[in-house]
Amino acid sequence: MTFIEIRDLMKIYQTKRNQTGVPALRGIELVVDKGEFISIIGPSGSGKTTLMLILAGMLDPTAGFVKVGDSRLDKLSGYGRSLYRRHKVGTLWQLPNRNLIFEITIEENVDIQLRLLGLPLEERKKRIKELFVDVGLERWSHHKPMQLSGGQVQRAGLACALAHSPALLLADEPTGELDTKTAKELMRYFRHLNETIGITAIMVTHDFDVAKTSDRIIQIVDGRISGFSYSKNLRTLRDLNSVYLDRYGSMQLPRHITEIMTVEEEVKIKVQEKGKIFLEQE
Ligand SMILES: Nc1ncnc2c1ncn2[C@@H]1O[C@H](COP(=O)(O)OP(=O)(O)OP(=O)(O)O)[C@@H](O)[C@H]1O
Ligand SMILES: [Mg+2]
Repeated sequence: MTFIEIRDLMKIYQTKRNQTGVPALRGIELVVDKGEFISIIGPSGSGKTTLMLILAGMLDPTAGFVKVGDSRLDKLSGYGRSLYRRHKVGTLWQLPNRNLIFEITIEENVDIQLRLLGLPLEERKKRIKELFVDVGLERWSHHKPMQLSGGQVQRAGLACALAHSPALLLADEPTGELDTKTAKELMRYFRHLNETIGITAIMVTHDFDVAKTSDRIIQIVDGRISGFSYSKNLRTLRDLNSVYLDRYGSMQLPRHITEIMTVEEEVKIKVQEKGKIFLEQE
């Protein structure tokens, strides 16, 4: 069942220095099923965070269609977007101080989220306990973030992101500050939560091994999707070989293909039969 539908999404940042604006997303087309866990990879500056901010309801798209559940994000007012952020979406960022307040315990951090929902004390206590069991921190809930390891801090951030039982979890480089072993451990919790609560999850990462824990890997290059594949079919990034042909007949080729072609040169298209089409360059 479709949970997220994105059509022809564009984002152009208006800046004083660049009068024409900076195009960050140039026609993203993406459909994500309910409960699916996808990861987004791509070079620096390709638009990954911009896409996450739009899905988080923190940034207005310039044009296009963005639907998450029954919320049309391209149509929501400021108030509608703040309700969407409070109830529908949980976020986990690379830097721990964007996820947690460092002066208070991790339990108090989660409690702030629950108070915003107006839950009574007993219910909040029960939910806090549940969440810390889920992220393997039940014995650490009275600690402040500074008293925990990097992996534990990100797991506490995950508990905060999930406190209000959102339908969508967005994580932007959640393992960016972690070593390989700790990153793998965080991903085990992440995957487990995705499977047990059935939450739809989107994660941005630079790390191919981290990306492989998701169901599907999507590559973004220069603000467009340039390849995707189910993780189980992928050994290396070179196996990323599905592209989306949009209704205008355009598509963007994966990076490992454009790297072996001469760019900004003519490409010949040869049709052998339906479904067998070849690209050829002199
Ligand atoms: N607030 C902003 N104002 C102007 N331009 C911006 C702004 N935020 C991002 N950009 C530009 O938009 C493009 C996409 O940026 P974005 O942060 O989405 O990339 P990214 O894929 O997340 O990169 P990274 O891997 O480095 O985090 C870049 O060219 C960036 O410089
Ligand atoms: Mg980014």
